[in-house]
Amino acid sequence: MKYGHFDDKEYEYVITNYNTPLPWINYYGQDGFFSLMSNTCGGYMFYKDAKLRRITRFRYNNVPRDYGGRYYYINDNGTIWNPGFLPMKTKLDSYKCRHGLGYSIFESEKNNLKAELLCFVPLKDLCEINQLTLTNNSKETKKVTLHGVIEFCLWNAVDDQTNFQRNWNIGEVEIDDTTIYHKTEYRERRNHYAFYHTNIKHDGYDSDLDTFIGLYNSWCDPSAVLNKTSYNTKASGWAPIASHMFNLEIKPGESKTVIFQTGYVENDEDKKFEKLHVINKEKAYELQNKYATKEQVLKAFNELKTKWVDLLSTLNVKSDNEKFDRMVNIWNQYQCMVTFNMSRSASYYESGTGRGMGFRDSCQDLLGFLHLIPEKSRERIKDIASIQFEDGSTYHQYQPLTKRGNADIGGGFNDDPLWLIAAVSQYIKETGDYTILNDPTPFNNKEGSEKPLIDHLRASLNYIITHKGPHGLPLIGRADWNDCLNLNCFSKTPGESFQTASNFESGKAESVFIAGMFVLYGKEFATILKNIGNTDEAANILKEVKSVEDATVKYGWDGEWFVRAYDAFEHKVGSHECEDGQIFVEPQGFCTMARIGEDLGYGKKALDSVEKILTNDYGVEILHPCYKEYHIELGEVSSYPMGYKENGSVFCHNNPWIVIANTVIGNNERAFDVYRRNCPAYLEEVSEIHKTEPYIYSQTIAGRDAKNYGEAKNSWLTGTASWTMYAASQAILGIKPDYDGLMIDPHLPKEIKHAKVTRVFRGVKYNITITNNASGKYLMTIDNKAIDGKVIPYNKDLTEVDVNIAL
Ligand code: GLC
Ligand code: GLC
Repeated sequence: MKYGHFDDKEYEYVITNYNTPLPWINYYGQDGFFSLMSNTCGGYMFYKDAKLRRITRFRYNNVPRDYGGRYYYINDNGTIWNPGFLPMKTKLDSYKCRHGLGYSIFESEKNNLKAELLCFVPLKDLCEINQLTLTNNSKETKKVTLHGVIEFCLWNAVDDQTNFQRNWNIGEVEIDDTTIYHKTEYRERRNHYAFYHTNIKHDGYDSDLDTFIGLYNSWCDPSAVLNKTSYNTKASGWAPIASHMFNLEIKPGESKTVIFQTGYVENDEDKKFEKLHVINKEKAYELQNKYATKEQVLKAFNELKTKWVDLLSTLNVKSDNEKFDRMVNIWNQYQCMVTFNMSRSASYYESGTGRGMGFRDSCQDLLGFLHLIPEKSRERIKDIASIQFEDGSTYHQYQPLTKRGNADIGGGFNDDPLWLIAAVSQYIKETGDYTILNDPTPFNNKEGSEKPLIDHLRASLNYIITHKGPHGLPLIGRADWNDCLNLNCFSKTPGESFQTASNFESGKAESVFIAGMFVLYGKEFATILKNIGNTDEAANILKEVKSVEDATVKYGWDGEWFVRAYDAFEHKVGSHECEDGQIFVEPQGFCTMARIGEDLGYGKKALDSVEKILTNDYGVEILHPCYKEYHIELGEVSSYPMGYKENGSVFCHNNPWIVIANTVIGNNERAFDVYRRNCPAYLEEVSEIHKTEPYIYSQTIAGRDAKNYGEAKNSWLTGTASWTMYAASQAILGIKPDYDGLMIDPHLPKEIKHAKVTRVFRGVKYNITITNNASGKYLMTIDNKAIDGKVIPYNKDLTEVDVNIAL
């Protein structure tokens, strides 16, 4: 069942049934001011850091689930309704929520009154605009009362939900004309405030939650709205909100527009106040004046749309597969931008208070994002590398506001260091710019410890080389990519974190997955070294690679697939010898990508096993059989009920590895088959089962052993976005940035016979026409001249190159 449809021309998903199986959300913002917006106007806003600088409040675990946002109440002759259906839940005569790239438009109608609500964060300013236009389509003049309302958060979102004995005393607002300023803690150590402003004079306001709503009422029957009034309250302590009320008279055929703006302002220490207790509003006025008219709003909105059209023109495909095209051209790239911005911090499943930016997560996010804004990637790489320690190990996460490593979680995830090589090599391939290797980058953010970035990469490899176990395979530490394979944890204490507890430092548990990574990215680093003339160093690294490769062939192969790991007692994990968890997906993907045991046919066998044992209707399950019982020596992986999360769901993040691995062994049909199974556009028709947004990847889809087989969870913030983008563009379409030029090595399935791709690469626009006769041959021609090999050598003097590929 569908709840809407794609509008590819407008780059939108149009939700037409507000009863979606879960909130279907969207993101706004690019540089500092970010918002989450659901299809019922729920969600929240923050500045840079969803934990430390929360602007509006949202209650996770609420009933109903998605309650609280920016709400517009329209009281039309006693019928009270909202453009986004919630919170009044008044049945609408028509409803549309168009989620676009960085904006949403709600179009609803009730009793011949039409509401159009345009919401977005402008490109350059720290605010969210909500422009509401009401049109009277009836034959009579309507007298409408309109209330707009948001609820402020007391900045630190964790504190806000926990420290009530303080919080209920500190809330402060200032009210000035058509603006309510939220200035809690501004008198003391904060230099920032937020505001809620309207462009026209209101007929009343409220800033105290309990009065606006009424202590025994709720968002769906706020006292002020029911009584068509405002109480003109000034919050003092308790919960500051901002609400403006308008009495509008709208003639037949007439439209009235109100622009609501939620803004964020920072002031210099010496310019905080105008006078005692009166905040300096200069910057706020500037922001307010920039969005005072419909024309100004439209201009900013068009700039945002144009920006996205420009960005997406970097990579565009037109093939005979509509769903593939819409994912590659629009939604997959868009999701990559969101994961780049948010890492795993704020979604409807991530509270924004737990995790900051992950070292491994953010490195991987770059793989799908790099072609969009390479400059931002360079900055990000530096931030990430700066939390690494001199021995190559690293903090696992950092807070975006402070950019400091997060000491609560610490380090010890032994795959982390290698992801830095993945990100940096991809950066060089995309930009051709090796100077990034010289960027002075500190260790653990310590001033004076700066070394060229290349030393960080050396440290990364060296960490693995110096941390090997009894079989010569890399030690796993707290966990590798699979956060839940905790082989040194041995946790018996309820509630203890599996990631941070280590009650049994075996110094023995090894990861075949990290071995695969080491081989793949070790070779990559050796190539970089050769390219910059360090041939001896490259040769040494290849020796190290060879030794891990040999160890993997010898101890990491189980007969039909790659072993997953060795536990603290040197027992195999992910082997036919085990009762449960006999095969895991991760090493099958990575070791095949790294071509380990290629001459022995390992990759092919491993991927056959993946198809036979792990593949279900929605993709490839992470392991099989699921663990039925808790295994103290394996950790969190065995803590999940069967079929969920790391215990046997389709953990979508690793599915693209299988797609790519299949293209490495030349199995194009199977590569596309795996791609298709959990591609959201293909699951749109079964949204009642899949449940999450049909335009966005989710982290997991419950596996065959789960009660709710096929149900997805944790949409948006997942490495799936980036890796799938990589798989679709670089493996299936085969448009691969490489050190010396653009490689074109398509692995299209038979069903895609034609594809026209435009790819802007280092400033040159490549128009690539692929004709797929599935002949097993490869011919590249430029201007009718056959080209040797698969790489178009980079020539900076060209602006446009037309390439033909016949397969
Ligand atoms: C989550 C984490 C990611 C990890 C994965 C598997 O997606 O963000 O870092 O690799 O789970 O456990
Ligand atoms: C939990 C999740 C896993 C995630 C980890 C992050 O263990 O199951 O997916 O990577 O938390 O800390």
